Amino acid sequence: MTKQEAANRIKKLRQEINHHRYLYHVLDTQEISDAALDSLKNELEDLEQKFPDLRTPDSPTMRVGGEPKPEFQQVEHTARMLSLRDVFEPAELLQWEKRNKKIVQAEYEYFVELKVDGVAISLVYQDGVLHHAATRGDGVVGEDVTHNIRTIEAIPLSLREDIPGRVEVRGEVYMLKADFERMNIERGQQDLPLYANPRNIAAGSIRQLDPAMAASRPLRFFAWEITAGVDVATRVDEYEKLQELGFAVPPDAKLCHTLKEVETYIATEEKRRLKRTFQVDGLVIKVNDLRTSARLGIIGKAPRGSIAYKFAAEEATTIVEDIVVQVGRTGTLTPVAHLRPVRVAGSTVSRATLHNMDEIKRKDVRAGDTVVIRKAGDIIPEVVKVLLKLRPENTRPFRMPKKCPVCGSPVQHEQGEVAVRCTNMFCFSQQRERILHAIGKSAFDIDGLGERIVEQMLQEGLIEEVPDLWELTEGDVLQLEGFAEKSAHNLIAEIQSHTSITFSRFLVALGIPHVGVVTAQDLARAFTTLKALLKASVEQLVEVEGVGKTVAQAAHAYLHSDSIQHLLERYSGVGVKVVPQKQSGALHGKTFVFTGSLGDISRDEAKQLVIAAGGRVASAVGQQVDYVVVGEEAGSKEKKAKQLGLHILSPSQFKKMIA
Ligand code: IVH
Repeated sequence: MTKQEAANRIKKLRQEINHHRYLYHVLDTQEISDAALDSLKNELEDLEQKFPDLRTPDSPTMRVGGEPKPEFQQVEHTARMLSLRDVFEPAELLQWEKRNKKIVQAEYEYFVELKVDGVAISLVYQDGVLHHAATRGDGVVGEDVTHNIRTIEAIPLSLREDIPGRVEVRGEVYMLKADFERMNIERGQQDLPLYANPRNIAAGSIRQLDPAMAASRPLRFFAWEITAGVDVATRVDEYEKLQELGFAVPPDAKLCHTLKEVETYIATEEKRRLKRTFQVDGLVIKVNDLRTSARLGIIGKAPRGSIAYKFAAEEATTIVEDIVVQVGRTGTLTPVAHLRPVRVAGSTVSRATLHNMDEIKRKDVRAGDTVVIRKAGDIIPEVVKVLLKLRPENTRPFRMPKKCPVCGSPVQHEQGEVAVRCTNMFCFSQQRERILHAIGKSAFDIDGLGERIVEQMLQEGLIEEVPDLWELTEGDVLQLEGFAEKSAHNLIAEIQSHTSITFSRFLVALGIPHVGVVTAQDLARAFTTLKALLKASVEQLVEVEGVGKTVAQAAHAYLHSDSIQHLLERYSGVGVKVVPQKQSGALHGKTFVFTGSLGDISRDEAKQLVIAAGGRVASAVGQQVDYVVVGEEAGSKEKKAKQLGLHILSPSQFKKMIA
């Protein structure tokens, strides 16, 4: 990047960041998430570090804290309200410890607390009675919000012990996720703008000028520190003392003897945090002994004795370098954003699907745009929105090509469908995707045949369609790059060991539109043999549980198309046998539903195991379901299963049952 380019980008980034800061701090509203805003600030910081003379005193990177609303009385904090340094990796904790041990050569323990995503508040008690409450402000001067804070029931108006003089307690005002959702529903009904997150409402509520407004909001409070007035020796004592004084404290705090223990705790909380009733954005790790902590001192605006371990942000900003069109197995053209690589939710993302033309139009994503991307759990990364003010000049709206970008054939836009399709059955990309689909885990499950090998086989003209695989010889495979006699022999043996396939897997392999693992199994169960299925009318297909009219019509048309007829002949010609669906087996008559991540086996593999044992897999929880297998981060299905009193299995119980 040239200096001129950097200067332009820096200018735009500053305008954008200032705009979001104004929304956030003055208007108490938010257009993009905290994580996305942090991501913009990081980009600005990086550029200013690369070009130091472009840094100016008014850059958002030079700002500390927020400005008070002019309507509020200002309160000077007796002791500065500090903040914490953030780290994102366990390795950074080790460095933190190493540096601290250079300053204080002593053994010490850590007290680990949930980092509650709310608003920091200082409470000052005079002779045991709440005297005033203030926001952090810029750390030195905050806003007097006593009138609103008094409305929060979790905050004692007087301490439960008589303590003469001044006591200061600090903590976090927050809101439960459920209360937040309820409030947003009500606001929606009143056509008011929605709040972005619980933190946002909490901040807005304590800065309301009308205390009646704050009182109407279900705010809560966790105390995390006694700053003055009570002597305690350790964080553990402080945690207990706060409770004796009448404060709620963050639950599940833990004394850890080593950083290893801290890491274990991090891993546990990372899994359970989504199930918590309030938002937790990380853990605060504190040196337990307060004398040691004080000796470690302060660096910048953060104490050295405590640190915030932040869970991976699920959103970040990055730049769309290009929009590339991919062609799928049924010819569908899918636009994909190629992104400047960025870390989100713990992994690096460089691609995000843009789904289809309608989606692109709705979001108006263009090459060159700065976008917010999100990755929640194991969900595919998606482009949430474009930051239009950061759009460079001369970008052009994306247009779907009129010709297939892979084979050059004309594309077709079917009426009433959003998808645009390449019309050439022999398009390289379609062939490759069809073959990869058919040899995948849910269909033929052939090992050792990856994307690269299939591409080479197609390029060398060794195969065109799936049945060609069974006609390959060792000599054919030897022509391919990277193969020697032994590996060629093994690959052919692997392919030849897959000449028989169950009916439901075969239906998946055929790639019938809208027919995934569950529908394939329902069809296989209803018709038992391929011959019977081919004889069925659309009406008979609709009678199958889980098959609607659209699916029935599409499947019928596909199964009776010339190309499928040809494909079926080829399969039988090369000796592939379709095994009728078993109507018995250990799990015969039992229906399973899967939810959440199952650990070391994929959802599709688990489904195939059930089907192979004669059971059935459904996609929704209902009375007809016998077992619900609940993995990590399960959602509403788990809740519903419990309400219905269904049998719940953990992934390990499920594996035992199958074994
Ligand atoms: S101790 C010097 N403990 O996170 C500040 N802070 O990013 C000492 N927070 O400013 C803070 N939960 O507003 C502490 N259990 C907890 C916390 C917590 C949330 C907030 C607090 C702090 C910010 C730092």
